[in-house]
Amino acid sequence: MLRTPEEIALLSTAQEPGIRNPARSEHGPEEILGDFFADVSLSGQRVLELGPGHYEFCEAIARRGARAEAIELDPPVIELGRRRGFRVWPGNLLHLPSLEVEPGFDGLFCKGSNNPFWFYGHEAALRNYIAKMAGLVRPDGWLWVVSCPFSNPALPPTEFGRWLDVEAAIYRELGFREWVPPHRLAAAYYGISFEHPRLAVFTKGLPPHRWSAATLARLPWFAARVAARRAGRVFAR
Ligand SMILES: C[S@@+](CC[C@H](N)C(=O)[O-])C[C@H]1O[C@@H](n2cnc3c(N)ncnc32)[C@H](O)[C@@H]1O
Repeated sequence: MLRTPEEIALLSTAQEPGIRNPARSEHGPEEILGDFFADVSLSGQRVLELGPGHYEFCEAIARRGARAEAIELDPPVIELGRRRGFRVWPGNLLHLPSLEVEPGFDGLFCKGSNNPFWFYGHEAALRNYIAKMAGLVRPDGWLWVVSCPFSNPALPPTEFGRWLDVEAAIYRELGFREWVPPHRLAAAYYGISFEHPRLAVFTKGLPPHRWSAATLARLPWFAARVAARRAGRVFAR
């Protein structure tokens, strides 16, 4: 969420249209923490986010006593993080294995900032990327990852799902757990907006996903909000 005219002006030149949008939904981080981090204390932890956008997750974990850092490519997004007091490591995730980042994090979060199609056709390179990402975290630390799978439009449609299966197999091989949202609405509830049938959350070092009482109580409200937005209506809390 962008809070001031200065932040809105700063992000007006961001590379991604969604990040330029001051009305971008801030929904997700609190819901993720409620349902994937049950009984996990983040207090005192050093946590890395890949591609933080408007820094909603960084801020949510800072409220729980964690120290958030980020890797980001886009100068206005880097500047936003620094203005808000976060340590931001500039760099292109594509070159993650060679980026200058102090490792040893307690946790790593990535929602929609890495793309398995960067390595399409090169399974070893994709495995190397995922392994390097996991290696930034201490062996007893945690990771929560959702990829952003934008494929090359020239690719045959069957290759899209096949390559995401390859990605999922690598995550499983490296000890990650896979959680598949049962419905698009559930994904949207966690701020994951990509609509494709192979959407999965990969986690390591965290308890299995559970539907918290808060989520079960709020889902009908959320569904009504989504429906109202789709119909172009304003929906009050
Ligand atoms: C889709 S947004 C997701 C933002 C945030 N994680 C969220 O869930 O709201 C992707 C973020 O990653 C950054 N990003 C995209 N490609 C990147 C790359 N190759 N290297 C580093 N950051 C990148 C964008 O600038 C943006 O901050």
